[in-house]
Amino acid sequence: MFSANAKSYRAVCLALALALSAGLAFQAQAADAKAGQVKAGMCVTCHGALGLSTMPNAPHLAGQPAIYIEEQLKQYRSGKRANEVMAVMAKPLTDKEIENLAAWYASIPIEVGQPR
Ligand code: HEC
Repeated sequence: MFSANAKSYRAVCLALALALSAGLAFQAQAADAKAGQVKAGMCVTCHGALGLSTMPNAPHLAGQPAIYIEEQLKQYRSGKRANEVMAVMAKPLTDKEIENLAAWYASIPIEVGQPR
């Protein structure tokens, strides 16, 4: 009886350890919005400190889904989406930096109201 319990105890411990290490691995890969915010220093002039654009021809980025921002940045980088300014901005970005930037802008809450 005791040995059966010890066995199941070991099984539970193993399961916990696996779950924990899977969680840590996930965390290590997850996008880092804080790092994205730092990187976004180079985007502030046009897209604003909180993703509300300060230039009339630059789109707002606050609250956009991360998957959308990521895709647009990759397309600017590859040239699939053509824009002179954004091509220059996106060219040096790594996949990780793009993920972090996307996580940062996606994490900014936005509010809308009824049209005036
Ligand atoms: C000099 C101004 C300027 C800077 C700096 C700049 N952008 Fe832009 N960004 C623009 C303009 C203008 C557009 C619209 C381009 C177009 O028509 O495709 C744009 C478009 C985008 C879009 C597409 C948004 C959408 O709704 O499709 C993303 C994403 C973006 N910028 C991210 C960034 C990031 C991240 C940075 C910093 C690494 C950055 N931009 C720096 C001017 C700028």
